[in-house]
Amino acid sequence: MTKDELISEAFKAMENAYAPYSNYHVGACVETTDGKLFYGANIENASYGATICAERNAVFAAYSNGYRKEQIKALAIVSDGGRIAAPCGICRQVLCELVGQNMPIYLSNGKDEMMTCIEKLLPMQFGLEDVIR
Ligand code: THU
Repeated sequence: MTKDELISEAFKAMENAYAPYSNYHVGACVETTDGKLFYGANIENASYGATICAERNAVFAAYSNGYRKEQIKALAIVSDGGRIAAPCGICRQVLCELVGQNMPIYLSNGKDEMMTCIEKLLPMQFGLEDVIR
């Protein structure tokens, strides 16, 4: 799948965002090495802290279906904001453990676009190897 196709799948996921509080809609799509797609949207809650971001939902969906880091090929995250939504701090922490350091992360708001990776988004990581010794 091309970058543009993956981004357009993430925009489809964004249609399922449940965001009555922020009215800020985010969609994400994970592509696996065997060509499967897993979708996520942000799902908010009246207890605001219970909200979950689109990219975590998408990556958790892939893991919930048995996929692991090595089988995750790319991730697209899109939003309807005025500027590109970079993953929040909690999502960066989750991504640093669950996807490859250099796996392409495509960001778009339909106007601007960029490619990044978790190595760039989260330097000096705290991870599995710090805890399991
Ligand atoms: N949000 C995401 O889904 N992903 C991000 O990368 C940034 C923030 C959601 C959480 C909340 O529902 C809304 O955007 C506003 O913070």
